Amino acid sequence: MRFTSIIPALALTLGAAADQEWHFGDVVYMGPTSGSNYIKKVTYSVTAPPVPTDFSQSDCWASIWIGISASQSDNSVPLMQPIFNWAPDNAAQGCPAANNAWCVAASTLLPDGQTDEPYVAVANNQQVDFEINTVSSGTVSQNVSIDGNVISSITNKNIGKNPTYFIAADECFTGKCGTLASYTWENVVITLATADKNFGATLSMDGASSKGFTTSDNGLTWKGAITFNKDVFA
Ligand SMILES: *[C@@H]1O[C@H](CO)[C@@H](O)[C@H](O)[C@H]1NC(C)=O
Repeated sequence: MRFTSIIPALALTLGAAADQEWHFGDVVYMGPTSGSNYIKKVTYSVTAPPVPTDFSQSDCWASIWIGISASQSDNSVPLMQPIFNWAPDNAAQGCPAANNAWCVAASTLLPDGQTDEPYVAVANNQQVDFEINTVSSGTVSQNVSIDGNVISSITNKNIGKNPTYFIAADECFTGKCGTLASYTWENVVITLATADKNFGATLSMDGASSKGFTTSDNGLTWKGAITFNKDVFA
């Protein structure tokens, strides 16, 4: 999801009582890459925080994700974003996890909407590992793995411009998900198509912290971690 309401017509129908829009919480960006450079590969791991406990709208829906895109905010530009989702009634959203746990799936926001692979339940405190890879120009693959086994993957071809932005965010549909505890995206490794010593300086954070990204190969590969602050959707 990104920045705009997915069902504005419904919000109008229901009036002020029920908010039916995605709300951004904490958000982190790196990029854009310069010139014709692009993000070749991103790998990272996370142990998702406990699911929110004090939600106040029963159809709320929380997500946390890292993605790559050729745009920071344009929904007509694909966003490859393997995604964790949780809802008070997970089953109603197609997530087979218990209601105290998250689901995860390879997922892409395309101009005509979100394409999710089937949701996979994630045990509490389970580390999940990710790879998003521009395998050839205009083609991006995602792999989601647990204990070395790929549990969800998707490949998007003809995405247009290669990804130039790294984006990480938490979001809440309805804005009433309650409190999302702090969590850390670990072992984040961003590999560019060509070396750029200045890429690390593009890190910008709102509601998150990081010791920064460092390179030991003159800017081809960047390593770091990002801690998202506790976020309250109330
Ligand atoms: C995804 O996993 C499959 C199976 O392990 C592997 O063949 C492929 O190279 C991986 N692709 C990416 C983009 O990680």
